[in-house]
This record gives sequence, C-alpha cells and structure tokens, in this order.
Amino acid sequence: MKPKVLVTRKVFPEVLERLAEHFELEVNELDRPWTADELRAHLQGKQGMYLTPTNSVDAALLDACPDLKVVANMAVGYNNIDVPACTAHGVLCTNTPGVLTESTADFGFALMLAAARRLTESERFLRSGQWANWSFDMMMGREVHATTLGVFGMGRIGQAIARRASLGFGMQVIYHNRSRLPAELEEPIKARYVGKEQLLRECDHLMVVVPYSAETHHAIGAAELALMKRTATLTNIARGGVVDDAALAEALKERRLAAAGLDVFEGEPHVHPALLELPNAVLTPHVASATVRTRRAMAGMAADNLIAGMGCGPLAGRPPS
Ligand code: DGY
Repeated sequence: MKPKVLVTRKVFPEVLERLAEHFELEVNELDRPWTADELRAHLQGKQGMYLTPTNSVDAALLDACPDLKVVANMAVGYNNIDVPACTAHGVLCTNTPGVLTESTADFGFALMLAAARRLTESERFLRSGQWANWSFDMMMGREVHATTLGVFGMGRIGQAIARRASLGFGMQVIYHNRSRLPAELEEPIKARYVGKEQLLRECDHLMVVVPYSAETHHAIGAAELALMKRTATLTNIARGGVVDDAALAEALKERRLAAAGLDVFEGEPHVHPALLELPNAVLTPHVASATVRTRRAMAGMAADNLIAGMGCGPLAGRPPS
C-alpha cells in the first residue's frame, strides 16, 4: 500500500504525476488555500504533506495529525513551519534552497529600479491620459547606478543582489547580517560589513532579504526608517513581518522616504490599505521567484524532498532544526 500524502495547493501536473508514482495523493483542487480547520481535517491519516507557503504547520496541527512524518515546503522560506515543534514531534521538514536565488535577486533588483525610477507611477500616468507634454521635471526619480546599496540579510539571495549591484551597476555595497561573510565572498563584490544603524544611515537603497523569525519581526520599523535618508528607497523581498508596513506607509506618505518596492506584506494577501494609496510604493503579489523555470525547479525539488524524506532517495534541502 502506498503512503498517503496531502498536497495543499495545485502544482505542475507532471509533479503530481511523479508524486502519484510513490504516494496515494489527495490534492487541494480549490483556487484558494484551505483554512486551518480544513487542512487539519484533510491531513488526517496522511504520512506526508507537500506544503505551499499559503498554509502553516504548528504544534496544534502536529498534535492533531499524529501520522504525519514529512513536510516538504515548496519554498526556501520556512517561517510557515514551526521547525522546533516538527522536531519535537519527529516530523522531518524540508525546503527548496538554491533554485530560486537568481530569479528572486533579478526581481528584487527590478523592484528597486522600479521604485527609484518611478516606473509603475510613470506607466499609470501615461495610461490614464495625463501625459500632455514633455517637461524637464516630469517623473524625476532617484539614481541607482553608482549609489550605495544596503543589503539587510546577506544569505544566498542577498549575495546575488550584491553581485548585480557591484558588478553591473557600479554600486557600493554595504551589508548587515547575523555574521560577517568570509573575505573570499566579500572581496569579489567589494561588500563592506557594517552595523545595522550604519547600514540604514548610509544606504541610498535598502534591500531587505533577511529571513522572517521572532527576532526579525519588525526589524525595520519607525525607528529604523527614521535613520534612513529622505532620498532613499526600501525594497522588501523577504517576508512581510520583517518590515512594519504601517510605519513604512507613514514614512512614504510624509516623504521621509522616497519610495518602496514591496513583494511581501504582513498578513498577505491582505495589503495595508495605506500602501495601496501611495504613488511611491511599487506593490507586487509575492512573485519574486515566479518564473517558469524557477517554479518548476522549486516544485520538483519539493517533490524530490518528499520522496526522499518518505524513504526513497537523497534529500536536497532541509532547514536547520
Ligand atoms: C520562498 O521560496 O520563500 C518564496 O518566498 C516563495 O515564493
């Protein structure tokens, strides 16, 4: 008899076919995530779960689903999983590191450029028929090349962004991270390690790429935003809770910060209403890794992890417990 596996959202058909070779599958066919109650009900009797970031795993769910052995998250971020609770329940959890680094870095860069150069604002202006004439001061934005990029969180994606900034855009890169990078990683991108306060004060563009956890909750709030240059931009491709969206909206509204590019939001898909009103906020629906190749790679790696975790193959990614 095949082990039973729950797939919390639809993924590529070929991935489901592969999973079905090994498991008896139940797939959420709805175009929305299951509620916590629905998830708990569907998870009864399942040994494995193919999880997307739209659902969470916590101690209560694990208590209610004692058959569960493996949770394979189709994401590199795993703040939707209580890893210590999984460890305590003997549940293996996995993620998809590496395969989305470059496409996410591309998108982060695109958001930063869009915010600094008022790209979406310019487009809205044109489409709404307001473009009557050329004028010297129309849609003037902020320079990106040869400015200073501040990277908050220098993991794989932070480093990929720093490489683009340093080698492609002639930017100076400063960064703040839990620990300093070894010299052989810092040197090629000329990245300089600084304290958090210095990072905020000196950067022209802040890129938030730090994983979300209890320690990084609102790591960028009103006090931090107050340290930044009025001409600076902030881009968040990490997780919503890292930035206090209400404080950010206030700073953008009062022009204490020039612009922001946001792909992630606290409580998404809900977006703070004040952000929706702001012309200087570029807002996208958590799609930084959404290219065809990358999403196929993520979906495939999560399937590999589930198959391996359930006992038939090598494991590709696993969050530290
Ligand atoms: C990730 O992999 O953590 C992404 O944010 C999901 O799209």
